[in-house]
Amino acid sequence: MSIESPIFIRNIHFPIQDVKQHDWFEGDPLRTSYCDALSVLFPAGERFFIKSVKHYLDKIEDPDFREEVRRFCIQEAFHTREHEAYNAQLASYGYDVEKMEARVIKALGRVKSPIVQLAFTVAIEHLTATLSYLILKDPKVLAKVTPVYRDLWTWHALEEMEHKAVAFDVYQLVTRNLSPWKRYMLRVGALFAVTIDIHRMLLINFNEMLTHRGESKGPKMWLKSAWSLFGNPGYYRRVIFHYLRFYSPFFHPWKGDDGKLMRQGRQELNNMMNVEPKHVD
Ligand SMILES: [Fe+2]
Ligand SMILES: [Fe+2]
Repeated sequence: MSIESPIFIRNIHFPIQDVKQHDWFEGDPLRTSYCDALSVLFPAGERFFIKSVKHYLDKIEDPDFREEVRRFCIQEAFHTREHEAYNAQLASYGYDVEKMEARVIKALGRVKSPIVQLAFTVAIEHLTATLSYLILKDPKVLAKVTPVYRDLWTWHALEEMEHKAVAFDVYQLVTRNLSPWKRYMLRVGALFAVTIDIHRMLLINFNEMLTHRGESKGPKMWLKSAWSLFGNPGYYRRVIFHYLRFYSPFFHPWKGDDGKLMRQGRQELNNMMNVEPKHVD
């Protein structure tokens, strides 16, 4: 069980619908669309996480651990609500968000076994924790974006960091009778699979959004996007080692120095939004 981090509940609404600027990421259609394409994946994904973790609730006897799971589910439910509002704004631009979401639902619907669902959740939680690491490690990443979007992504990043070990710890508990090899292969196999499949859906969404806006310009657009991820500013390049940590047999989400990042993130969010974290009973 994780004891490194209290999981705070922050019931915040972000008035995305009031933002008039379409290209909220420093006026850049590519970075804006990449994040927007990611937002479309969240509601179905987070409902899946809640379901897959709740499935094992009766196997958890420790009341503190049960409370962590409860808070994990509440945080993810609020993320779902806010990303639904975000995605409604995207639909108002004329994007076929329903079709994009249907792809996510179909992909997740293929995973039938509860333990594989949990392994997928653990793996995707590592991806969101990696994104959180990028955002919280370097506040300059979002410093110049439109404030409502900056606040929403910072809030989401912080809470993903706070609860990043919950699904992993549930997985460790419920697979304790599996052989170490099976337990390891299931979780790393899941990360490998979701890394590919999430990027498949993300890039399809990204391309559809840019095409709809008349911004898709073939190889030049793709090269520019790849440079942004792997060259400069190199969003992926900067977190590659964080991502790869999961493939170690000794991995645990709280191995590393993320406690400091979380305290900074809380401070940052409080400063930006004047939000004091509070527990919900
Ligand atoms: Fe989330
Ligand atoms: Fe999460």
